[in-house]
Amino acid sequence: MDVNNKVAVVTGAASGMGLAMAQTFADSGMALVLADIEEEALDAAVNELSKDGHRAIGVRTDVSKLSDVQALADATLQEYGAVHVLCNNAGVGVGAPVGNTSIADWKWTLDIDLWGPIYGVETFLPLIEQQGEGHINSTASMAGLYAGASLGAYNVAKHGVVALMASLERDLRWRESKVRASVLCPGPINTKIVNSERNRDPDDAANHIDSEQGQKFWDFLTRTLANGMDPAEVGPMVLDAVINEKFWILTHPEMGEIAVSQSRAMLEDQRLTR
Ligand code: NAI
Repeated sequence: MDVNNKVAVVTGAASGMGLAMAQTFADSGMALVLADIEEEALDAAVNELSKDGHRAIGVRTDVSKLSDVQALADATLQEYGAVHVLCNNAGVGVGAPVGNTSIADWKWTLDIDLWGPIYGVETFLPLIEQQGEGHINSTASMAGLYAGASLGAYNVAKHGVVALMASLERDLRWRESKVRASVLCPGPINTKIVNSERNRDPDDAANHIDSEQGQKFWDFLTRTLANGMDPAEVGPMVLDAVINEKFWILTHPEMGEIAVSQSRAMLEDQRLTR
């Protein structure tokens, strides 16, 4: 797909990988709608892009609310009259073992990480299809391909996102649509995801269950992501998938081996790998 002068909507665009996608898309001639729950950071991101001469607006959006996602679509059409690319990227995470994860943590994670992309696809797909071509990308994770310990709610949400996007791509092919889908499965990226709770209602956050296992994992994750890839490297990977119609975007392809060995063991001895 030729992206020049096309319109892209990116959620979670005020920080990390979403911000990098917005910057990359803008540099390649696209008009941008940045959506995020964090208003101050959103305004700063939009100002930065506008200052550089790019076309960009910001729409404060909570992706866990269908009415917000619909309002985002309305604002996009009002500003640009069309939409061609959607990146469902907003996300949060919490470290907790299954069996010791509060229902509030399950809901918070699934509402944003899985329902967000579902609302995005169902709201934007008909609008994108009206253009005759376009692309929907969602950010899953390596946790969408392999469910490790201490991250149950996140694993469930991200496996759901991978299934959502594979289902979407196959449905689009089935009806010979020119719209394409893709899924981003990042490994460790140095972003603010470890401070996800900054955007959470404090009353809801108070319902988190602290556990030694969850905390230990989160500390480990915080150290790992601090040494992770620069999010700026991820924007061009997503742009490449949009332009060249690629489905899988793995920032760390070598980590995909963990999913391959799990599938191999499933067939060979029916045991779950470590
Ligand atoms: P980040 O925290 O830097 O950016 C996430 C953005 O989403 C923030 O701007 C935040 O305000 C926004 N957001 C949070 N809740 C929202 C809501 N309800 N509605 C709208 N916006 C909301 O983190 P990062 O890492 O850039 O996250 C982007 C995506 O990447 C997420 O889906 C995350 O799960 C995923 N991911 C991150 C990895 C990493 O190593 N950083 C690895 C694998 C996946």
